[in-house]
Amino acid sequence: MIKFLLNQELRVETEIDPNLTVLQYLRNLVRKTGTKEGCASGDCGACTVVIGEPDGERMRYRTLNSCLTFVAALDGKQLITVEGLQDEGVLHQVQQSMVDCHGSQCGFCTPGFIMSMFALYKNESQADRHKIEEALAGNLCRCTGYRPIVEAAEQMYTNAMADKFDRLQGQTLQQLGEIQPQQTAELKGAGRVSFSPTTLDELAALYEQHPAARLLAGGTDLALEVTQFHRELPTLIYLGQVAELKQIHEFDDRIEFGAAAPLSDCAPYLSREYPSFGQLLQRFASLQIRNQGTLGGNIGNASPIGDAPPALIALNAEVVLRKGSKRRILALKDYFIDYKVTARQESEFIEKIIVPKASAHGVVRFYKVSKRLDDDISAVLGAFNLTLQQGIVTEARIAFGGMAAIPKRARACEQVLLGHPLDEATLTRARQALSQDFTPISDFRASKEYRLLVAQNLLTRYALEITTPELATQVTAHV
Ligand SMILES: Cc1cc2nc3c(=O)[nH]c(=O)nc-3n(C[C@H](O)[C@H](O)[C@H](O)COP(=O)(O)OP(=O)(O)OC[C@H]3O[C@@H](n4cnc5c(N)ncnc54)[C@H](O)[C@@H]3O)c2cc1C
Ligand code: FES
Ligand code: FES
Repeated sequence: MIKFLLNQELRVETEIDPNLTVLQYLRNLVRKTGTKEGCASGDCGACTVVIGEPDGERMRYRTLNSCLTFVAALDGKQLITVEGLQDEGVLHQVQQSMVDCHGSQCGFCTPGFIMSMFALYKNESQADRHKIEEALAGNLCRCTGYRPIVEAAEQMYTNAMADKFDRLQGQTLQQLGEIQPQQTAELKGAGRVSFSPTTLDELAALYEQHPAARLLAGGTDLALEVTQFHRELPTLIYLGQVAELKQIHEFDDRIEFGAAAPLSDCAPYLSREYPSFGQLLQRFASLQIRNQGTLGGNIGNASPIGDAPPALIALNAEVVLRKGSKRRILALKDYFIDYKVTARQESEFIEKIIVPKASAHGVVRFYKVSKRLDDDISAVLGAFNLTLQQGIVTEARIAFGGMAAIPKRARACEQVLLGHPLDEATLTRARQALSQDFTPISDFRASKEYRLLVAQNLLTRYALEITTPELATQVTAHV
């Protein structure tokens, strides 16, 4: 059974297919068809909804792609759809701005844009162009053009005033307080089952009882198995209700990220410590996906083109794995074994990710190369972390994504660099060593020749950036 608020209405679902997405639930079961289906794969934003959750005394609002969210994730939350914004027949100021600025033509993308703008409006008392673009980067419009939409997002702040959500905040918090899950919830339907444990111990025990179950964190990878590949996921264990798995703890020498902490919660910590990680995360999918997707899921998915693993390997991050009551700590570089094969054993899950804090001498840079700047998967990702003392490389950690079947360290390249200055002769040998480290493949993202050349050029770029910081190596302003 799950309980949640659909806009302001309490819904109790006792039997429902756990493979059903929130989008399918809205459109097919409760006939709220304002939320649109475009791609059903997280790319277009037409299905964007907002999830409201208690955050202390206030409500916190986040956008999600409803096409990638299974219904179990709604338990204890408020699901806000475009139908829920108007107040007794009067448009919300976000909607009114869209009308005033002529931000809609065919209208198919409009509900998704409105929901992204609404979340921005609720979370920020003012938003500059950068914030607006960040909030809207996961929404595509194929007919209006983005100028009027961005103008609408700017204009919504000019008439900012308390809205119905402010008025009803106390009541909403109270209603959500009454339906917070206190113990493992079970959702059954269509012969499938989903468990939502609320503690680590419950999760560990459930996974031992159901070793074939699929772990569901944000679902931004897993849901595609159902929506794109038409597979069944008969048993799911949802991690999003386990409070310990969503916590982030900062220590003097490290930060520990609960495996189910959404990427948008991890981002401020990672970017404070490593600004280059912040830049990388800004280019990780869209805000909707970062609100939903997790660091643990990015590792658990074991994709050779995941963005966080090479960066984390270059930082010498570790994962804490748990099976039953036993925990073990593994360097992330040893977690990936072969294509989609990891060191994770049956019924073992990633509990947390330990990221060392920046050292005084290390120079860390991550470079993502993809066809589009926003919302695109890497062709190659280079992660560099060298320590130089008196101009000599004394420590080297270099890892790449997109260059092998797994995210992998460039050992031969590191060996060439160690003990040498970053001069042209060393760089020439280090570039050559990358071809011993990697035999990339060609696919629709890039050819093998391009991948190798890009990896070599990223090494040169990194060396230039640290030896000649005044040299311009990237476009920093929009043209
Ligand atoms: C449109 C779109 C754009 C994307 N763009 C990017 C991008 O730019 N860069 C990028 O790297 N990725 C991208 N992704 C992929 C995806 O968003 C990320 O991999 C994300 O981090 C997955 O996290 P999740 O919580 O949604 O994982 P889920 O889908 O919930 O899980 C992914 C896998 O990991 C397993 N898993 C989850 N948590 C754990 C755990 N604690 N222990 C063990 N196993 C676990 C699951 O069982 C599953 O097999 C994109 C996806 C989409 C749909
Ligand atoms: S339908 Fe396109 S992102 Fe969900
Ligand atoms: S208004 Fe037609 S797709 Fe945006």
